[in-house]
Amino acid sequence: MLRFIPRVFACLALGSVSLMTIAAEPTVPYVPTPQEVVDKMLDMAKVTPNDYLIDLGSGDGRIVVTAAKKFGARGFGVDLNPVRIREAVENALKNGVSDRAEFFQRNLFETDLGGASVITMYLLPRVNMELRPKLLNLQPGTRIVSHDFDMDDWKPEETVHMNVKEKYGSAGGSSSVYFWIVPAKVAGAWEWQLTVGGKVQTYELALEQKFQMLSGTLRINGGLFKLGEAKLRGDQISFSASAEINGVTTKQTFSGRVSGDKIFGSVALAGTRAQSQLEWSASRGAKAAALVTKPVLAAVH
Ligand SMILES: C[S@@+](CC[C@H](N)C(=O)[O-])C[C@H]1O[C@@H](n2cnc3c(N)ncnc32)[C@H](O)[C@@H]1O
Repeated sequence: MLRFIPRVFACLALGSVSLMTIAAEPTVPYVPTPQEVVDKMLDMAKVTPNDYLIDLGSGDGRIVVTAAKKFGARGFGVDLNPVRIREAVENALKNGVSDRAEFFQRNLFETDLGGASVITMYLLPRVNMELRPKLLNLQPGTRIVSHDFDMDDWKPEETVHMNVKEKYGSAGGSSSVYFWIVPAKVAGAWEWQLTVGGKVQTYELALEQKFQMLSGTLRINGGLFKLGEAKLRGDQISFSASAEINGVTTKQTFSGRVSGDKIFGSVALAGTRAQSQLEWSASRGAKAAALVTKPVLAAVH
């Protein structure tokens, strides 16, 4: 199916091929996203007036213009084709959002994405994959929405399939929308201490990461515990473990915000009789790495 789609794309774009050749080697033909899909993309990204959105290959500017007009956001679009840029600028003017929706004739691969809180794309699978390393290096928490094409083994947080009457002009068809959040980089060895039940407990966490998926091991006072419910959403991390504290099995649920080599948050302790919440902070570093990688002889609890 995916192999077929680019050909459909190319055929439907024939009308604009002569215009496309004006620009230097466009990577993707012009096929506009139907308005109801644009609305869905911006809904899924939960765009607000605080957002700065960049549309890569912005066509007639409809995504940036809608983000500004309906969602109050600011942003810009880039397109190689000067005709598309003129259309987009007129579109922004007509909709009264020229102060918040800008358009530049620029190659999307040479565009600085640093200021974006939301990136939108309607490109092609191989273009998405070429962009992927750059996207994964953006500020953790940056939201990315793509019309019709995913990013292979970087699984989206959310996917929506919809039937769309205005797909490919009025031909109709189905659209898929994929939504990701750039994950913080959390792989490595973390450590912290907590005073629980009057006793200082030393924690060592070794985390492995594949995009937003986490796995790893947690040692508490040298004993190895199973890491449960490990989640990473942007810079928000959470995980849990059940350990015996003062003879009572206590579930410890950690949640916090990753900021470089630090995590700041809280831990909820739930035992058979008592529940409590404590402040929690963890550090990643060479010392922690040495601690976590020394041989573990303790049994997994
Ligand atoms: C499928 S259209 C999407 C248009 C718009 N984003 C939308 O969803 O309605 C892709 C657009 O990318 C532009 N484009 C293709 N290669 C590009 C490149 N390397 N840099 C910038 N724009 C490019 C094309 O001119 C076209 O307008």
